[in-house]
Amino acid sequence: MEKLDGNLVSAHIKEQIKQEVIDWQEKGGKKPHLAAILVGNNPASEAYVGHKVKSCAELGFESTLLRFTPDITEEQLINEVKKLNDNDDVDGILVQLPLPDHISGDAVILAIDPSKDVDGFHPISQGKMMLGQPTFLPATPYGIMLMLDHYNIDVAGKHCVVIGRSNIVGTPMTILLSRNTKPGNATVTLTHSRTKNLAEITRTADVIVAAIGKPGFVTADMVKDGVIIIDVGINRISDATKKSGSRLVGDVDYEGCAPHSSFITPVPGGVGPMTICGLMKNTLLAAMQKAGEIVGN
Ligand code: GUN
Repeated sequence: MEKLDGNLVSAHIKEQIKQEVIDWQEKGGKKPHLAAILVGNNPASEAYVGHKVKSCAELGFESTLLRFTPDITEEQLINEVKKLNDNDDVDGILVQLPLPDHISGDAVILAIDPSKDVDGFHPISQGKMMLGQPTFLPATPYGIMLMLDHYNIDVAGKHCVVIGRSNIVGTPMTILLSRNTKPGNATVTLTHSRTKNLAEITRTADVIVAAIGKPGFVTADMVKDGVIIIDVGINRISDATKKSGSRLVGDVDYEGCAPHSSFITPVPGGVGPMTICGLMKNTLLAAMQKAGEIVGN
């Protein structure tokens, strides 16, 4: 069993990005600028956005964090997005999800200028991704592909079972794993909460991507020996032995499944740091594209 170390890989990729920013600035380019919108004070969202802002500083990016109280209206929030669209200094925009119930996330994402959609959530970005055209890839699936690439894990011809069909992880993951790229060319099964006989399917998987949002959902009896496990879950569960009273666990029972696996991502320190890499790479790409440099994923 080899641990897929997201902290290590992301540190390596971040060094590369940092150098690209230095080279870019030496050629007269400006610092990439990421603007993040955070509504309310969901502790998980606070932590994610905090990591993103901190990474910007580490990599020589500029960042702006716009915070709004949960009583902001959908119209007001869309107006804020439009201001960022019109702000020439801003290269990338992200709206941290989830949003309060009275605001349609779809409507807000639709308002983002696709050329600044560094989360890759806009229908234009998602459509281009589906068609295999250069675009911003959603940060988590993109980060997972970077991780597979870093460890030289060839998924071609392998059976990849994705658990969870969200627009931001499960569904795009199936597209990236199956397209004719390296890594790619996998045979993919998308499973979800209504899938029958899930364990029978996962036991045939060479690769499992767990993105269902349920702590410890994938157990040892659901995997075959030698499986590659990518755990996207970040779930906080109570743990009286911790000072904080809680700890983070993934969607996979790590202790039970790790001995059966050939590669496995831990939580924390697996997919999470790779998501940040995906976002940062997209933001640099956005800045370069805005300046007329033609680069694509
Ligand atoms: N909420 C959970 N994951 C993400 C993400 O990758 N981007 C944004 N904007 N919100 C999220």
